[in-house]
Amino acid sequence: IDFKGKNSNFDLFSDRLLIKGAKIVNDDQSFMADIYMEDGVIKQIGDNLIVPGGVKIIEAHGRMVMPGGIDVHTRFQMPDRGMVAADDFYQGTRAALAGGTTMIVDHVVPEPGVSLVGAFKLWREWADSKSCCDYSLHVDITEWNKGTQEEMESLVKDHGVNSFLVYLAYKDVFQLSDSQIYEVFSVIRDLGAIAQVHAENGDIIAEEQRRILELGITGPEGHVLSRPEEHKLQHLFLLIITLSAHTGAVVYGEPISASLGTDGTHYWSKNWAKAAAFVTSPPLSPDPTTPDYLNSLLSCGDLQVAGSAHCTFQTSQRAVGKDNFTLIPEGTNGTEERMSIIWDKCVVTGKMDENQFVSVTSTNAAKIFNLYPRKGRIAVGSDADLVLWDPDVTKIISAKNHNLAVEYNIFEGMEVRGGPLVVISQGKVVLEEGNLHTTEGCGRFVSRKPFPDHVYKRIKARSRLTELRGVPRGQYDGPVCEVAVTPKVMSTVSSGNVSPTKQQQQSSTHQPVRNLHQSGFSLSGAQVDDNIPRRNTQRIVAPPGGKANITSLG
Ligand SMILES: *[C@@H]1O[C@H](CO)[C@@H](O)[C@H](O)[C@H]1NC(C)=O
Ligand SMILES: *[C@@H]1O[C@H](CO)[C@@H](O)[C@H](O)[C@H]1NC(C)=O
Ligand SMILES: *[C@@H]1O[C@H](CO)[C@@H](O)[C@H](O)[C@H]1NC(C)=O
Repeated sequence: IDFKGKNSNFDLFSDRLLIKGAKIVNDDQSFMADIYMEDGVIKQIGDNLIVPGGVKIIEAHGRMVMPGGIDVHTRFQMPDRGMVAADDFYQGTRAALAGGTTMIVDHVVPEPGVSLVGAFKLWREWADSKSCCDYSLHVDITEWNKGTQEEMESLVKDHGVNSFLVYLAYKDVFQLSDSQIYEVFSVIRDLGAIAQVHAENGDIIAEEQRRILELGITGPEGHVLSRPEEHKLQHLFLLIITLSAHTGAVVYGEPISASLGTDGTHYWSKNWAKAAAFVTSPPLSPDPTTPDYLNSLLSCGDLQVAGSAHCTFQTSQRAVGKDNFTLIPEGTNGTEERMSIIWDKCVVTGKMDENQFVSVTSTNAAKIFNLYPRKGRIAVGSDADLVLWDPDVTKIISAKNHNLAVEYNIFEGMEVRGGPLVVISQGKVVLEEGNLHTTEGCGRFVSRKPFPDHVYKRIKARSRLTELRGVPRGQYDGPVCEVAVTPKVMSTVSSGNVSPTKQQQQSSTHQPVRNLHQSGFSLSGAQVDDNIPRRNTQRIVAPPGGKANITSLG
């Protein structure tokens, strides 16, 4: 075997994989078959496949093999006031792979003043050099000015971006005004992209933060206390998502791992570092029944995708806000735990089946963000990103045995059932027998085209229905009345300023004549619309619908 060079026999060997005896689980069906993959792509699915020699064989023994997870919300290596999130694209994607997620979509967050395209290129550099799995990028719109629209166009047309996020929170930092958000949405719709919304009310939060600090509350509990309405708002947003889905609007909801797996009671922990580890926005609900509620919504399809919002900071970084909770860098971990938490909370409890699990962890994300069926499905021609899932494995989540660079795990001590046995990314085994074999920088940027069918087919159909259109009809050729044109003199004085005497003079000298054909009401005295020009009076000869006695109306 020649170990040198990219096209060595060794590489060829590891690029040919056969999974035997798999229960293939897609979002719509499960069935038994073998899967053969080569060069990172699924080449054959079936029984008794004829495959070349030198193939690595994995015996699935009837276990489930499903599309690798897609985490649509990560913020690896995220800069924050000169600090950088603890998990960079290397640590972050390793953690993702360790949990069965084979693709992540990270957020580009342009600093105010930096161009969108400039920020995008920076994120690409970071991710290209470090990412261990395929990735894509959302771009957050943190500012709206003249150039923003062209930059968004360029990102969609030339850079493979099809999703943008706007903030309703982070007043004076990222928050846009309502009218700007409306403009952004219009641009997004014209471009065929996906609009994402960070749903919190920044104005209320800014007010409340000031109030809570004034009360002398400076610890992490202040973070949730200053967002008292946020839980109600979150419920409201959930309701909107649910209602919209039922009434036909095209809206999708994304709960995050932290909110599915744990709750906000920990903000009151006596241990500052632990309490601070939970600081994320929107904050986790202090109501311990919320995770169960969210898991149920995810299971019944009212929420469609689960992201992790993975953005971790070391305790020393969080401690920037030790005397002022508004300064604590935000974010929680969850990319590694995401799939196991959903399996444990939703599948083990019987809320969803294995196919729905694939929908919410992978397929729906692939469809919404136009990655399907390259990602999110086990099919011939799809990428060889697969997970051999063990529904029976049990593990206790702990910072000691996870693959991240932080000291605290918000899920510390939680026991979860279900986890990956083998993870295959780009056709290579990256997790086997608990060992990760990742290659820094091998993750590819996956560009995404606009107008994903899953979203825009419905939007287009609705646009067609709501278009304003005249009625196509033949030319009217019946009788037409003669028109007596009376020259009209309009007063330039607005009716509000007219004195009663002047008004009387006006009405006696040159009373504006109304088109009585338009108004069925008898008119007298000064009218609010007296100064609005009118069409010349028409003497009606044979009005449609019968004769009218004009004088009787006056
Ligand atoms: C806390 O930080 C905020 C900035 O987020 C600042 O406006 C405020 O003055 C600080 N308050 C205290 C009490 O340090
Ligand atoms: C991240 O997760 C680990 C466990 O997986 C946990 O111990 C650690 O506290 C978490 N970090 C943060 C910042 O929440
Ligand atoms: C129309 O009005 C005139 C004058 O007020 C009246 O003499 C006539 O009877 C009215 N005709 C009808 C059809 O109402």
